[in-house]
Amino acid sequence: MSAIDSTDIERTNDDAVVVSPINRVRGELRVPGDKSISHRAAMLGSLADGESVIKNFSSAQDCMATINCLQALGARIVRSDSTIIIEGARSSGLQQPAQSLDAQNSGTTMRLLAGILAGQPFATTITGDDSLRSRPMLRVAEPLRLMGARVETQANGCAPLRIVGCHRLQPIHYQMPIASAQIKSAVLLAGLAADGITTVEEPTQTRDHTERMLPAFGANLTRNGNACSIQAGPPLHSCNLFLPGDISSAAFFVAAAVVLPGSDLFIQDVGLNPTRTGFLFALRALGAEIDVVDERFAGGEPVGTLHVRSGASKERRTLEVSGATVSSLIDELPLLGFVAASIGCEMKLRDASELRVKESDRVAATVENLSRMGARIEEHADGWHLHEADELHGARLSSFGDHRIAMAGAVAALGAAEPSRIEGARSSVAVSLPEFWTLLDTITE
Ligand code: S3P
Repeated sequence: MSAIDSTDIERTNDDAVVVSPINRVRGELRVPGDKSISHRAAMLGSLADGESVIKNFSSAQDCMATINCLQALGARIVRSDSTIIIEGARSSGLQQPAQSLDAQNSGTTMRLLAGILAGQPFATTITGDDSLRSRPMLRVAEPLRLMGARVETQANGCAPLRIVGCHRLQPIHYQMPIASAQIKSAVLLAGLAADGITTVEEPTQTRDHTERMLPAFGANLTRNGNACSIQAGPPLHSCNLFLPGDISSAAFFVAAAVVLPGSDLFIQDVGLNPTRTGFLFALRALGAEIDVVDERFAGGEPVGTLHVRSGASKERRTLEVSGATVSSLIDELPLLGFVAASIGCEMKLRDASELRVKESDRVAATVENLSRMGARIEEHADGWHLHEADELHGARLSSFGDHRIAMAGAVAALGAAEPSRIEGARSSVAVSLPEFWTLLDTITE
């Protein structure tokens, strides 16, 4: 039984996908390498002296945008399937690109590269697609300006950014006003070109892939609670890495197994960094049976195999997500809303206003799509209140041009009463997981 009916796509020649209900998911799969970690590996490899080989690199369009930008800056990167080989820019440094850099849809590309460009002695313009050009960039411009770089945004604080960097930045102690791994990483990367010790302190802990990876490339980095310091030293050296599978991609298949009774699924070699596993804890709180087997370390990150069974009990539960927990499942919050609605649970989300400035306004998008499927859900400035309900019905959903909204809708559609049509789903999904539909087909029963 296939979940995906592409006849509509061929007939209407548009970008929609029709997802039909299925019985359950079973079997095993592997997801491509982690997107967040892939961006960082490509960037650090490009700054390093010598050849770095990165295996299990992400297939996401976002990461391709990073590679394109780094190549335009003079790094030599060759890609063969999921392996990339990077000849770093060495001590000669990166070169001024001939044209503007295009980060496409990727906030991580734009913000982390801004940190690197702040430490280069030339001017660069970095832009992106309509979605990225509407996202806030003052949050990254401000600390980089404090370090002595010139960072110009548009009058509304958005991209295109024009960055005039310099080789010897001013070290700062930066108390971050918002919890953001992208901003933390940008400051640390700029700190590689600063004259002294740069410290970033975050209000709550966010994903720490940059802090884990920098020492592997030879950087002098220390951590103390929620603070992290970097001291410029000799150039970074090359490093070979095998990247873990992306837990934020695995999350959609985990969710399908939780939503569909009788499911039994193994997902191999998934990254289990504790700053990213909040979704698994939330699902367990809803009664899902999720075990981790074969847990080990790979490339400085914990990885393991997830075994998921649809253990969600008939007993209805309430899930409350707020405060420091939000960062550990920030990208999975829309999906969690769809799972809770699919299994009839109540969910109260607070302190998640950051969701409004992602690839789409993910609070509004989740509330809109769930309402179309028949859920009772109220929108708040910083979250939502989803009420207990019976089965979701099929509906016409929008992807809002956002990969995670499209895939979250698809998972809920698998467990709904009738087929759903998701507008804009095919192109948006490729931003993070081009293999989503084919992987789903391999486990569908
Ligand atoms: C990311 C950090 C998060 C996350 C994004 C990836 C990263 O963004 O939502 O998908 O790779 O550092 P913020 O830093 O804006 O919270």
